[in-house]
Amino acid sequence: MNLPPHITIRHDHLWIGEHDTVELARTWGTPLYVTDQDRIEACYMACRDALSAEYPRVRILYAAKANGNLAVLRALAALGAGADVFSSGELHLALAAGMQPGTLLFNGSSKSRSDLALAVERGVPVSVDSFDELGQLEAVAAAAGKTARIAFRVNPAIDVPTHPKIATGLATSKFGIAHHLIPTAYREALSCAHIDPVGIHCHIGSQILDVEPFARACEVMMKIVREITGMGVRLEFVDLGGGLGIPYHRGEGERSPNPADYARAVIPLFRQGIREAGISPELWIEPGRSLVADSTLLLAGVNSVKPAHRNFVNVDAGFNLLVRPAMYDSWHEVIAANRAGQERKVTCTVAGPICESGDILAHDRLLPELAAGDLIAVLDAGAYGFAMSSQYNSRPRCPEIILKGRSAALMRRGEDIGDLIRTMETPPWQERGR
Ligand code: LLP
Repeated sequence: MNLPPHITIRHDHLWIGEHDTVELARTWGTPLYVTDQDRIEACYMACRDALSAEYPRVRILYAAKANGNLAVLRALAALGAGADVFSSGELHLALAAGMQPGTLLFNGSSKSRSDLALAVERGVPVSVDSFDELGQLEAVAAAAGKTARIAFRVNPAIDVPTHPKIATGLATSKFGIAHHLIPTAYREALSCAHIDPVGIHCHIGSQILDVEPFARACEVMMKIVREITGMGVRLEFVDLGGGLGIPYHRGEGERSPNPADYARAVIPLFRQGIREAGISPELWIEPGRSLVADSTLLLAGVNSVKPAHRNFVNVDAGFNLLVRPAMYDSWHEVIAANRAGQERKVTCTVAGPICESGDILAHDRLLPELAAGDLIAVLDAGAYGFAMSSQYNSRPRCPEIILKGRSAALMRRGEDIGDLIRTMETPPWQERGR
């Protein structure tokens, strides 16, 4: 199995960093999200070093949607990361983690007036997604007596080999402005009194395991960069988005391109483009998954086993905590954490506790023989895992812990029943008799 270096099997138990997952489950209970901070830092530094070896003026904007926990954001901020933020909430969290406003980019195709006002007030650059939004931002900035620094989100019309729900650069996608309209957009921005077009942005999709689509997107972007520079736009950054995939199919030895592969495929095209345009902007990229996915395990306890038309292993975590398998048919490797060295001889279907037939974390996987009380680890749960969790079936969300060396600490406490009802109100006509 192609495990990342911080995930090991020692004496029949699965370990993450310096921690035995069986001990972690005993101490903190299950279900439990476990994140290794050292691994996130190593991934960030590998990405930064690989890119800056090819071009020195690189900035990494971590895609905060992948895992918005403050502890994760703080760890990345301490290393110099900025962030791609997709909501006012993510913007607040990024600032609270210590990131500088100028190192954030407020993305999104449907920002509200108050989102725009917040970006203007805090001095966070905005990736503008439509002509309508440009007009609104000009009005918001004028009212605040400020200038909004913007990029336009380019729709480069590029097909990418990934799940259709996470391909974002298709001509038919809801994101961005069609590439052929982008020069018109910059012309309009240049005529706005309170808009300063300082960047250009695209993002073609997520979980992409081939570097070629990134290279094609870069070519589309550099053609536009040359054209708009000729129009008088002074670009301070070119943001090529995120999207680099990870090898979820670890049992089959799947490989993914690493940041150095990405840098080698993309940066020569970038350098050539800016040379031809006669500028030297910063290169921004927005990785999410590739920085945090493999840092995290979701530990789940086995409640019961049921031999039926499938061998169901019923665990205490389902799509309330990890929706990716149900939503995208995603594959996450599953390891029997307390029997990690044992022969995998039973074909099992790992099912969650949610009242839906689609609540399956893993279909037909070879696992050791399991029983109630055993422990399952779902790998690569750090990106879009907890971040997409819900309280469906009135299940309080589980805790998240973070590891650093030999230390372990909560980074989010588990919810309880009080948390489920805290935001609920009793309408006045139901008050009587209470
Ligand atoms: N930048 C922008 C503008 C994005 O929309 C995204 C992800 C990223 C960066 C980061 O992409 P990454 O490096 O993580 O691939 N929930 C889905 C993934 C949705 C991605 C949305 N946008 C999943 O679980 O696979």
